[in-house]
Amino acid sequence: MKFLNAGESHGKCLIGIIEGFPSNVELNIEAINKELSRRQVGYGRGKRMAIEKDKIEFASGIRFGKTMGSPISFTIKNKDWENWKIPMAIENIYHDESIKVTQARPGHADLPGVIKYRQKDIRNILERASARETASRTAIGAICKQLLEEFNIKIHSRVLNVGGIKDVDISEKGNNFWDKIESSELRVYDKEIENQIKDVIDEAKKEGDTLGGVVEISISNLPVGLGSHTFYDKKIDGILAQQFMSLQAVKGVEIGDGFKCADNKGSNIHDEIFYENKFYRRTNHAGGIEGGITNGEEVVVKAAIKPIPTLMKPLNTVDIETKEKKEASKERSDVCAVPAAGVVLENIAAWVIADEFLKKFGGDSLEEIKDNYNKYQSYIENL
Ligand SMILES: Cc1cc2nc3c(=O)[nH]c(=O)nc-3n(C[C@H](O)[C@H](O)[C@H](O)COP(=O)(O)O)c2cc1C
Repeated sequence: MKFLNAGESHGKCLIGIIEGFPSNVELNIEAINKELSRRQVGYGRGKRMAIEKDKIEFASGIRFGKTMGSPISFTIKNKDWENWKIPMAIENIYHDESIKVTQARPGHADLPGVIKYRQKDIRNILERASARETASRTAIGAICKQLLEEFNIKIHSRVLNVGGIKDVDISEKGNNFWDKIESSELRVYDKEIENQIKDVIDEAKKEGDTLGGVVEISISNLPVGLGSHTFYDKKIDGILAQQFMSLQAVKGVEIGDGFKCADNKGSNIHDEIFYENKFYRRTNHAGGIEGGITNGEEVVVKAAIKPIPTLMKPLNTVDIETKEKKEASKERSDVCAVPAAGVVLENIAAWVIADEFLKKFGGDSLEEIKDNYNKYQSYIENL
């Protein structure tokens, strides 16, 4: 599969195209819209998210509720476009020069972007660099999630910490674990911790500051054998890491116990192999991936999210035109987007897994993929 997306933060709309998606997958549009709204909520998000109520509008690839195998294309409107028709006009209309943004924000693409693309207005960079783009990647992932659900593959996210305040350590996730995470505005398990995090977010907001944190994505019911050890660009841990790093504000990716492995002995960190009717492990330090191949255990990936770089108490910068010392420009902004980043990463993971799933079990239709998958499962069961 391939996907393309386009669209500026305050442009008319966001656009996505998926090519290579199989036919006969029933798409639940409400479930896609629900995924889009999960991305928009979360304690610490700014006013922009209160304006946008994202809804997907399909333009092709689906008929009578089912995919046809042809390219799937869609748009998501930017409601704020109404207020930006002049500053973001497509046509070369008259506009006041004072709308130019010239005070580059540290931590954004602003300065390297204007230099690279020879721009005099930072808006020509920030509009596309903005995480508004992630609405279309979330929709693409939400479509892939529905394909994966046909094979009972589930993807979840939780927030492990915000601003250094850690959620409780839960090794055994009980039945209502994910419902509890879903009902938390911060996607954490412990209510007391949630309140503490809300307090530090409120404090940061009052001080004009921002916060980051860590999220964890878990993918369950994966078959053994997605990805490959045979070539550098086929290793599924490498693919996940690249895609996760491509999310705005992600500064670190960890597979399984990741950095903790470096401090441990081999005897503590590798997952011993057992057999009782099937191969299994008692631990999952590897996070479900060995040698670039899924090993049948839960795939667990963590991502470190940096604090939002637009501060209401602006950082020092330099005006790109006058070269004078200035305060960085302020766009309406989130204080903390860690829970939202988790939701986007779930959907980025859904894209990667669906793509790898099709490489392994590929077929033009859902029926053909199911045949291939079932044949492989019976091979595994008879090992
Ligand atoms: C869901 C989400 C929402 C974000 N919201 C904002 C925001 O409101 N203001 C802001 O300055 N940065 C926001 N960011 C982060 C920036 O887009 C990002 O830090 C910036 O584009 C620079 O890219 P880099 O951090 O990957 O280097 C957000 C990121 C994510 C994942």
